[in-house]
Amino acid sequence: MNNRLIKDKHIVVVGGAGFIGSHLVDRLLTEGAAKVIIIDNLFTGNMDHLHDAMASGRCVMFKDDAESFHLINYIFSEFSIDFVFNLATKALNYSFINPADAFATNVTVVLNLLEMLRLGKYKSLCHFSTSEVYGTAVYEPMDEAHPKNPTTTYAAGKAAADLAVESYVNMFDVDAIIVRPFNNYGPRQNYLPPLAGIIPITAMRILKGDSPEIHGSGLQSRDFIYVLDTVDAVIKVFEVLAKGETVNLSTGNQINMKDLLNQIVNFYHYEGEIVQKPERGADVFTHNCSNEKVSKIINYQLTPFETGLASTLEWYQNNIK
Ligand SMILES: NC(=O)c1ccc[n+]([C@@H]2O[C@H](COP(=O)([O-])OP(=O)(O)OC[C@H]3O[C@@H](n4cnc5c(N)ncnc54)[C@H](O)[C@@H]3O)[C@@H](O)[C@H]2O)c1
Repeated sequence: MNNRLIKDKHIVVVGGAGFIGSHLVDRLLTEGAAKVIIIDNLFTGNMDHLHDAMASGRCVMFKDDAESFHLINYIFSEFSIDFVFNLATKALNYSFINPADAFATNVTVVLNLLEMLRLGKYKSLCHFSTSEVYGTAVYEPMDEAHPKNPTTTYAAGKAAADLAVESYVNMFDVDAIIVRPFNNYGPRQNYLPPLAGIIPITAMRILKGDSPEIHGSGLQSRDFIYVLDTVDAVIKVFEVLAKGETVNLSTGNQINMKDLLNQIVNFYHYEGEIVQKPERGADVFTHNCSNEKVSKIINYQLTPFETGLASTLEWYQNNIK
């Protein structure tokens, strides 16, 4: 058992105005964190997601770039901090537009945070990896020992970040863990092109009266997890996972893009055309996760996909401006 209890602690969430990060901030406040310091440059983050969190009076927001070592050094010198959750990233799709920058963000932010950890400026780091580091499944279900074969600079940067975390633990015995979510979905996920994922972009197109699109055969599959399940698992895992360890987070259910699109189309009673687009280069084909490790270490709770999808699509209906 680690001494990583959230209650009464001062916690930094890097990327805390984003999709998963903002839900994590809400949950940390519910768990009794004394202060949550958010660092987010609002690249895709949105202050609307933090409305309740900021109203709690226990949040501080730095709208700034966590790639700046000077900024990070300032914050960690100014505040007393116990724990850090690192979720900062520029969406996978961005790596097709600006490959080097997508890679650099994933690596630079975590190196800054690892340096602060090595210097003793806080106690524990929880770093967010991604299933993208595995590339297409070479065996299924994919457990934590699955080889890392990143197919994009986004994923290559995330894989490099994971290796950096592991090597700092190995070299300096610092307290850091890695959580590796598979594809998340849920309220607050960015729906604006060109960076949005399939669920939000399809919802947005239908709600705005445009035709949804499918890339390639539509047989590419993903293992989706509802965002609040991810956050619940991260909070539980953080308290128990041994330093240097990584844990996958997903539902263990695969859905292909064609079926997913049909579910969204049916939910909104859309009857128009579906536009066929060419296959996207470097797209991972299959992701199917093994949850064996996480299920052994926490009471792992999962929302049925149909329930999560319905609440997500309702949220877009109410929030797409
Ligand atoms: N969403 C998913 O399906 C998924 C799946 C697996 C892993 N993850 C991982 O979870 C984490 C959160 O993902 P998300 O979906 O919430 O993404 P998101 O884009 O919604 O959140 C990332 C946040 O980081 C911020 N950011 C980007 N560059 C920054 C910088 N230089 N300095 C400060 N802030 C910066 C963005 O503004 C944004 O708010 C990421 O590490 C991602 O790799 C996400």
